[in-house]
Parts: sequence; structure tokens; C-alpha cells
Amino acid sequence: MSQKVIINSDIHKGTINKNIYGHFAEHLGRCIYEGFWVGEDSEMDHTNGIRNDVVAALKNLNIPVLRWPGGCFADEYHWKDGVGPRADRKRMVNTHWGGVVENNHFGTHEFMMLCEMLETEPYICGNVGSGTVQEMSEWVEYMTFDGESPMANWRKENGRDKAWPLTYFGVGNENWGCGGNMRPEFYADLYRQFQTYVRNYGDNKIFKIAGGANVDDYNWTEVLMREAGWLMDGLSLHYYTIPGDFFKGKGSALDSRESEWYITMKKALHMDELITKHSLIMDKYDPDKRVGMIVDEWGTWFDVEPGTNPGFLYQQNTIRDALVAGLHFHIFQKHNERVQMANIAQTVNVLQAMILTEGEKMILTPTYHVFEMFKVHQDATKLDVDVASNPYEWQGENIPAVSVQASTKEDHIHISFCHVDHQNPTTVQIDVRGYEEKLDQITGRILTAGETNAHNTFENPDQVKPVAYEDFTVNGTQIELRLPPMAVGVLTI
Ligand code: AHR
Repeated sequence: MSQKVIINSDIHKGTINKNIYGHFAEHLGRCIYEGFWVGEDSEMDHTNGIRNDVVAALKNLNIPVLRWPGGCFADEYHWKDGVGPRADRKRMVNTHWGGVVENNHFGTHEFMMLCEMLETEPYICGNVGSGTVQEMSEWVEYMTFDGESPMANWRKENGRDKAWPLTYFGVGNENWGCGGNMRPEFYADLYRQFQTYVRNYGDNKIFKIAGGANVDDYNWTEVLMREAGWLMDGLSLHYYTIPGDFFKGKGSALDSRESEWYITMKKALHMDELITKHSLIMDKYDPDKRVGMIVDEWGTWFDVEPGTNPGFLYQQNTIRDALVAGLHFHIFQKHNERVQMANIAQTVNVLQAMILTEGEKMILTPTYHVFEMFKVHQDATKLDVDVASNPYEWQGENIPAVSVQASTKEDHIHISFCHVDHQNPTTVQIDVRGYEEKLDQITGRILTAGETNAHNTFENPDQVKPVAYEDFTVNGTQIELRLPPMAVGVLTI
């Protein structure tokens, strides 16, 4: 039995905020050091210490926003240690991530330079857990004040005359856990205090993001919205897709059992329920949806690759990760009225990465290709889509086999699809109402694989990559797609 999708091309459902295609890069494992930063003395191809190959690959994703410096690292980070001559910068222990030496060679100036190279907006996360109000306030002054002041003068002495434009600023991270183990009432009070001194200098207007809930901690959202909702522009939410148990074994990225495919898809779809329920609470205090939900950490989290440092969170990336990414984008787009930003964890070499590096070598992951194919949705107008999916059944349970979203931009319609069944092919009939006359001009791309753990390696970097998709026919107003198992792709009309 085929599945049915109706797309009403004349019913517009708002703009898909490009920031849901955002990223996150932490001082964790080999993300910042090796992944981005190799230093000015490196023999690798770099610009002012930043890898050119990684930047070139990421530029192709049109990354709209990049979160830094953490994560848990943010609430241990003291920004003043990371400015000034590099040789003089303080060496500290990265206690949260592997106990390695952090030499602070990548600091504020280097991060802003990276953002300029990527043409992406910075999203800085400040330190509430172990920092002070003054420290946070001075960081914002250092970055954004253009006049005469102690911090602006110091920035100039350190080689940057003009203030940087900075919109997104997080007031702490996971303050229920690594960011201070706080109760929501206590953090809400601290948020109110800290954010007071996050100033707008000149024309720079900061979008303040409060540290939000872990997974289904709805009480956290309730307390934050009740006690401080009017003082924030965004409230974060963190949820990772973990097939197993966070403490007892998350599951392997590569050697997963067949049943872990189904459970991974099911857990990825759980994001929909979480956003729905947190949104309901936000709606109570903010019915006009002024405060954005900022899903600033999401993605798969597996056991680290055997033989790698457990504190570095390095994992391989397969066609399974690609489907998880596709499902998340569809969920974020579905909730585009409330979800204003999302940041995958993390961009390079950590968790569900776009890029893996080994010395000078670099590979693009299946997840990278989903970001690349789906970038057409960035800032596009969402179209009304109705999906009647068959169930994908596994051992007495089921989830929808197919997920579809559509948007329009610059006289084109883009239809993205995910088919999560790992065993059976399927047929999908898509009725594109109001656009029939252009159905003879369709192109498509698809990412699929024959094995559930298909992935790219440094020896075989193009094992999983998008190919032209032509296995569809047009019958009047309908496009009929024949999809293989485990497929994600985009049609352009
Ligand atoms: O992304 C890895 C870690 O996961 C982040 O540092 C933290 O915020 C979360 O628990």
C-alpha cells in the first residue's frame, strides 16, 4: 500500500528560520583543537591558524549560527584567559572533557575570526556556573562596545579596533547539571541578575537565551517562564538521541544491532513530543510566541569509538545519523512558530559531526550531506503538508515510515523526505496542489545505503553521499516516489 502526501502550495505556514540549521562547537576533544584550530605555525593549509579544508567544506552548508565555547565547558571558561598574546595565555585543565591541557590559544578573537570566515553569526554562551556577573558583563562590553571603555580599549590593544556584531548570547548552559547543579528557582533568580548586565551597546541588540530544560523536565520550563520569561528572548532545550542508556551503555555508532535502528528512529521522533509539551508551557506565559525555543544541543550520542579517549566523545557517523538529522529538521520545521534556532552537537569530531579529521585528512559524514541537501529550506516559506504514512513496524511496535516537509523560495518548491524503514522499500504519492503545471521540471537527490551502518572512512570517503534521484513518475497532479529502505532526500520543482 502506498503512502499519501498532500502539499498545498498556496497555503503558507510562515518562514522556516534558517537558524534551525545552526551548529555548536565546544572545547571538547578534537572539535576546536585539530578540528578547526591548528595554529599559525602549522604546516597544514590554514588561514591565521584555522584549517582551510574544514572552513571550505562548512561554507557549503551556509551555517547560519555557531554556538561556542560550550556546553559544559562554557561554565568553566573564563574568557579573559583567552585573549592577548597567545604565548602568555593561561594554561588550564579542561576538567569536564578528558582532563587535558587547554592552552587558551583559541579564544574570543579566534572564534570571531572563524565566524567571519564561515560567514556565520556567533552565538556565545557565558559562564554562570563558575563565573561572575562582572565577568559576563565585561565580556559583552569587550566584544560589542565601540567607544572608550576599559574593555573596548583592551580589545583594541589586542588587535581588534572595531566591535564585533553579536546577537546571540546564552546566560549559562545546563545549569541544572554541569552548569552548577541548580534548582530552577535558583537559576531563574541568577538569570534575572546576570542578564541585567548583558548590555546593548550602540546599535548592537543582544538576543538573550536562558539555559533551559533537560529533555522532559517540564517543571524547569514552567519555573523559568513564570519567574523570568519577560526578561529573555529565547529559552533552550537539550535532547540527545541515545539508543541505549546514558550511563549503562548508549550503543555503538557502527556495530549496532538491528533493533537499535528502530529504537534510534523512535527516539529521534521523541523530539516532537518534547517540543510540543515544552511549547504548551511557554504558550501559557508567552501566547504571542515572542520567546524562541532554542534547541541548542541535539543529535545522536553513542559510545565513543573503541580506543579513543572517553572524554573526547568521538563517534563515527552512518546513514542512521543521516535519518536522525532529517527527522529533526522536519520536526523543527513543523514547530517553526516556536523553534527559532537549533544547534547540532557538534560540528567537527564530536558526537554527531559533519566532519571527521585525522591529521591532514578530512571526511564528510552522512549527516553533513543532509545539512547540505536541506539547506534549501533555510528562510524559505513553509508549505502546508499533510502526510498519511504507513507504519514502520518492528517487533510489535510502530512509527510512521515516511516524513515529508515542503517549502517554497525563489519560485521553486523543495520537498524533503525521510524513509526510516530499514528493510522494505516503499511508494509515496505526493499531490502538489496548485503547482501542477510545473511538475514536468523536477530534479531530485537522495542519500541511501545498503547497510544500516554504512559510513565514510578516510580510506573510502564517498561510500555514503547523495546521488541523483530519478525513480519517480508524474501522473497528472501526482508525483509517485519509489523509495528504497533508509533514504533521505530532496526534490526540487
Ligand atoms: O555536547 C556535549 C555536552 O552535552 C555539552 O557540553 C553539554 O552541554 C551536554 O551535556
